[in-house]
Amino acid sequence: MPTVKIAPSILAADFADLGAECRAVEAQGADWVHLDVMDGHFVPNLTMGPAICKALRPHISTVMDVHLMIAPVDPFIAAFAEAGADILSVHPEAGPHLHRTLQAIRAAGVRAGVALNPATPAAAVSEVLDLVDLICVMTVNPGFGGQKFIASQLPKISELRRMIGDRAIHLQVDGGVDAATAPRVAEAGADVLVAGSAVFRGGSAADPAAYGENIRAI
Ligand code: DX5
Ligand code: ZN
Repeated sequence: MPTVKIAPSILAADFADLGAECRAVEAQGADWVHLDVMDGHFVPNLTMGPAICKALRPHISTVMDVHLMIAPVDPFIAAFAEAGADILSVHPEAGPHLHRTLQAIRAAGVRAGVALNPATPAAAVSEVLDLVDLICVMTVNPGFGGQKFIASQLPKISELRRMIGDRAIHLQVDGGVDAATAPRVAEAGADVLVAGSAVFRGGSAADPAAYGENIRAI
């Protein structure tokens, strides 16, 4: 399997102890930490806002990768940039002007990502490649951790890998990634794997050895 980065999603961590969970998962080998922001409108769940991301910033020494599942997204870009995000990913459906949104993220000094729902084609990002640092292929419908991997997305990962060519753009996969599906998405061309339940199962911040075993298993 090609070398990939692992970005644990703290959606599957203990929400009463998120700072410790971030530190623990990094100590166990996480390359990035993935924060899932949900608004109960764009997706049918509620999680965290910029205040929690800001509070977690001192507990993340790798890359704070913030996945925004909110619409409209434009009014919140400044707040998440100020919270210290290294990467802000948005969905094309989260506003009428994806190009402008990506410009705004970069103007705020943050790397810009685009996340594609299972029903959203690769072409949704083809006209903004010069403005993106990351493309995220959702292999579940966003909103919840622990869902089943949607294998029909594999050709889209390969298509995006070809589309990216030699550009410096990460190709991330998010949803249902575990030891069984990780080799398939890596083979298709992904270089950053988000994993929530597959990383956090069986451990805790106080006893995090399982996190390391889970990361290495992916
Ligand atoms: C889903 C989120 C994912 C989620 C992945 O809406 O974007 O990041 O936490 O969780 P698992 O790995 O359990 O599918
Ligand atoms: Zn996510």
